[in-house]
Amino acid sequence: MKITVIGAGNVGATCAMRLLEQGLGDIVLIDIIESLAKGKAEDLMDAASIIGHNCNITGTSDYSLTEGSDIVVVTAGFARQPGMSREELLSKNASIVREVAKNIKKHSGSPIIIVVTNPLDIMAYLTYKETGFDSKRVIGMAGFLDSSRMNLMIARQLNRNVSGIDSMVMGTHGKTMVPAVSNSKVDKAKLADSLKQADIDKLAEKTKARGAEIVSYLGKGSAFYAPSAGVLKMAQAIAKDTNEILPCSSYLNGEYDIKGIYLGVPARIGTSGITEIVKLTLTKEEEKLLKEASESVQSQISSLK
Ligand code: APR
Repeated sequence: MKITVIGAGNVGATCAMRLLEQGLGDIVLIDIIESLAKGKAEDLMDAASIIGHNCNITGTSDYSLTEGSDIVVVTAGFARQPGMSREELLSKNASIVREVAKNIKKHSGSPIIIVVTNPLDIMAYLTYKETGFDSKRVIGMAGFLDSSRMNLMIARQLNRNVSGIDSMVMGTHGKTMVPAVSNSKVDKAKLADSLKQADIDKLAEKTKARGAEIVSYLGKGSAFYAPSAGVLKMAQAIAKDTNEILPCSSYLNGEYDIKGIYLGVPARIGTSGITEIVKLTLTKEEEKLLKEASESVQSQISSLK
């Protein structure tokens, strides 16, 4: 496979490292600062002789080298700083993502695009609009990350391992995240069988604030190990055509009664991108929260026009 990663910062470079070490394909690492992309690519090539991966990575600002990419990962843009919400990155990152999407359309062929730049659901929408690609081929990486974060919160509360814990987090990758507790499970049983409602509510809130918690520890920039792991998981599903269900930001065309925006929902991912938006039965309260999430995305999109 040929995989382009745009943005050679914390998330982009860590994605490149994970993809290389899993031998998923050759990588083109693009950054507006060419020497940064080159430096990180060359460092990763030096690592090849130690780690033993056989893939090639090129660091550049030249989009013509992305021609024929099977997957393009978009991480270019600003990361939030302590005290900032993801939503506050909107106008700064919108212009970057629009420019990046134009370049993908012009040079990269017809890849599947995994968007990571925040605010995620709006950046996925802009990428879809600007490229004009089939919406099934433009996917936002977030729901799987947020669900994994909730798995960890539950595991810590229950003092056990995460394996067997299966959370479902929907909605935005932002303030209107929707932990769909009714569809979250521990060893295939309902989460409510393992935890009291008050504890579940606390863990859901901790999950929503997890990104900000990490930003506050780091003091500068935002999380990158878990986001890059989320990208790897999605890229593997695409490369190996697993068709597994991964919560991710997907274009909705009436599913969940929402139309014309990107929002976090469970979706099947395979070689052609999203093959199915999975319809879960939600509680009335979860449906209401999902609606509020869609309104928040809609109003952010409108504010850009
Ligand atoms: N084209 C290409 N690269 C760009 C452009 C552009 N127009 N504008 C900025 N970049 C590059 C920067 O030069 C920088 O190297 O994007 C990179 C961003 O890296 P970091 O600042 O380290 O940010 P990172 O932590 O990687 O986060 C990137 O992912 O998770 C999200 O919220 C996060 O929106 C943020 C994005």
